[in-house]
Amino acid sequence: MTTPDAVHPAWLPPEAFRAIGSRRTLVLGDGLLVETVRDEVARACAQYGGRVRRGADGGAYDFVLALTTAEPQAAIGVRPDSAIGTEGYLLARHDGVTVVLADDPAGLLYGLFHVVRLGESAFTGERQAEHHRPATRRRTLDHWDNVDVHPVMGQVERGYAGGSIFWHDGGPRGDLTRVRAYGRLLAACGINAVAVNNVNVHATEARLLTDRLGDVAVIADVLRPYGIRVHLSVSFASPVVLGGLPTADPLDEDVRKWWTDVTDRVHDAIPDFGGYVVKADSEGQPGPFAYGRDHADGANVLAEALAPYDGVVHWRAFVYNHRQDWRDRTTDRARAAYDHFAPLDGRFRDNVILQVKHGPIDFQVREPVSPVIAAMPATRLAVELQVTQEYTGQQRHVCYLAPMWREVLGFRPWGPDGTAVADVAGGADGNGGGLVGVSNVGDDPYWTGHPLAQANLYAFGRLAWDPWSDPAAILDEWIDLTFVPVSESGTSADVERLRRTVHSIMDDSWRTYERYTAPLGVGFMVRPGHHYGPDVDGYEYTPWGTYHFADRDGVGVDRTRATGTGFTGQYPPPWSEVYESLDRCPDELLLFFHHVPYGHVLHSGSTVIQHIYDTHFAGAEQVEQARRRWEEAAGLFDPSLHARVKELLDEQVRCAEEWRDQINAYFFRKSGIPDVRGRHIP
Ligand code: GCU
Repeated sequence: MTTPDAVHPAWLPPEAFRAIGSRRTLVLGDGLLVETVRDEVARACAQYGGRVRRGADGGAYDFVLALTTAEPQAAIGVRPDSAIGTEGYLLARHDGVTVVLADDPAGLLYGLFHVVRLGESAFTGERQAEHHRPATRRRTLDHWDNVDVHPVMGQVERGYAGGSIFWHDGGPRGDLTRVRAYGRLLAACGINAVAVNNVNVHATEARLLTDRLGDVAVIADVLRPYGIRVHLSVSFASPVVLGGLPTADPLDEDVRKWWTDVTDRVHDAIPDFGGYVVKADSEGQPGPFAYGRDHADGANVLAEALAPYDGVVHWRAFVYNHRQDWRDRTTDRARAAYDHFAPLDGRFRDNVILQVKHGPIDFQVREPVSPVIAAMPATRLAVELQVTQEYTGQQRHVCYLAPMWREVLGFRPWGPDGTAVADVAGGADGNGGGLVGVSNVGDDPYWTGHPLAQANLYAFGRLAWDPWSDPAAILDEWIDLTFVPVSESGTSADVERLRRTVHSIMDDSWRTYERYTAPLGVGFMVRPGHHYGPDVDGYEYTPWGTYHFADRDGVGVDRTRATGTGFTGQYPPPWSEVYESLDRCPDELLLFFHHVPYGHVLHSGSTVIQHIYDTHFAGAEQVEQARRRWEEAAGLFDPSLHARVKELLDEQVRCAEEWRDQINAYFFRKSGIPDVRGRHIP
């Protein structure tokens, strides 16, 4: 695999600071994050010849970054009309001066990075005051990182970019330079919280809560200057495995006290500690069910301990029976989260955030939105997205996920006039549970293994900040920041060519991936265990769930109320009716909700079987085209990045053809119905 000599700067190459670094800047205000802003500007100035001052000295400035508390009107005569708000900033340009104002230091930092994105255009013309503030306070990344290398899962569970950037050799990395650079990248796309260990908490990682807390504190120290609060995944059984108590029953007084004492110590070590992440009663992790308690009892005991410190519990709703009997057709994994959690609405403490995967199953390339999101109005909810590409090509395939996430966030569970998923996650005044992304980062020099997968991390942050952003516009920002032309002589025509190439490969890559993999919303036709590559029946007869029910006549899971598992009844109208109805169900989700004959005619006019053939041929062909386009872009920028992507595209072409052939052959053999276009099906 082609590897660059140094760690890739991702969306913060030095050149991105050229416009700021060549100007005269005044930074007004105090605080850790204001110092970070000064450092950033000073570094840029050292490279590009500008200068930065910390107090007004009567000199002229091109750029002023000021906290409103620092009385900026004395220096620049600007005063905002109204409160700017937590983490927000105001950007304006008058009389040749670009001004960023913020009520708090975090806002100033986000304002600085906004100007980095704008580049030279931030310093030309006039600009009416623009008010920016995040849609939600909580913009979190979960790292599924283990401190030790796990014998099966490796160091990063479902990680495709090397080892952990936090942990090495069973402890924190000695040199945290990379972690600092990571914090900077995260702040530059708007992320403000990171959970530093896997939701599956193994023996060593459990101890991060107690005798190894210092290991977490050093990471928190490095991320703090970028406004990032650290969270910790903890085991529900901690009072037993760490505290030596006979029980972890959440209603036991000693257990409550144990959590309170431990949390006090965590707060002493990490004063801005964000809180706990808990995967309980899920895929073998311990939880309250063992004590006959429910998940509100379980979450509340941890929340109570964190409440004095503005900490939260991210309690995951990913609870289902992973030991089901495939012969039992009434068990439906899709129903599980709602069945467990909807009855508990209103019982969680205010600082519990119920963390719900965006779909009812598990991050498949196409799922409906989870009905839990619409079922718990009295609970703070976070929507969990999988930035790491477990089921979307494992960072060997190009799959730009922002269009999928944008669709999820824009979905309106109560119909076109109702609230959207983004509003539920954002909450009133941005105080909802927000978005949580499962990180796709490792110690690979490109951070994400596949260089183009960086765009997913960037887009996750930008959508968490503003869920209504356009994925293509986010991609543009990312391209502009990331791809520096090979030389100063790189022309704007080169940049435009590169932009066109990247868009043509990435804009539709999620749908391309969908075309050549599992069709029409069935999901899980992957190889069991590692989940890469096709295996149509891989999970069909296992305890983890059953996903397609294909036989010689038809395919799909009947989840209707009339004849199936009743899952459609978990949605409010109109979706409970739309999904129930064979006529109204959207094509792309047909097989998620209905079992139909192969000859069933879709809204598109094609039959199910012909749709399977057509999309699989088209998807594989689109990947081949992407490879050709990428080859044509050689020479426009960094050759080693070009080479790395080229190697990965070779693998994507190979794998897409394997998917195409396996899926087409499987359904041809089951149905006996030939392709109307007579193409070769092995
Ligand atoms: C998936 C994934 C697991 C992970 C789990 C979770 O099932 O394969 O590795 O632990 O999700 O979200 O907890």
